[in-house]
Amino acid sequence: MRRHLQRIGRLLLFMMASHAATACFAADPGQGEILAKRWCIGCHLVAADQKAATTEAPPFATIARRPNFDPAKIELFLRDPHPKMPNMSLGRAEAADIAAYIATLR
Ligand code: HEC
Repeated sequence: MRRHLQRIGRLLLFMMASHAATACFAADPGQGEILAKRWCIGCHLVAADQKAATTEAPPFATIARRPNFDPAKIELFLRDPHPKMPNMSLGRAEAADIAAYIATLR
């Protein structure tokens, strides 16, 4: 019985550890979608069901379909936005989440 409990305890620890690892290292496209709809929708088409864009900003789906598309580059780009974009000072995780979301639009 005791050994059995120990084994369950170890299993739980392992599951918690791997869950924490995912939370730290994997970008979350769902979170990216929420962020994009909050920060980017004013200028970009951020979702397929959205109708009109308001400026010359490229739709996210267009960005995603470029042959040289690379989420890592988007992430870098977002960490240092160019002058036309407001400085949103996205954190590293937020930029990665948005990049992961854009990648789902391919
Ligand atoms: C105030 C308007 C505005 C907002 C808000 C905005 N953008 Fe942009 N963005 C632009 C414009 C305009 C361009 C194209 C300008 C250019 O290429 O010089 C652009 C270009 C881009 C590009 C393409 C760069 C390339 O390689 O062509 C990406 C990626 C991008 N925006 C991501 C985002 C994300 C993600 C957000 C939200 C966090 C965001 N933008 C919010 C106006 C905006």
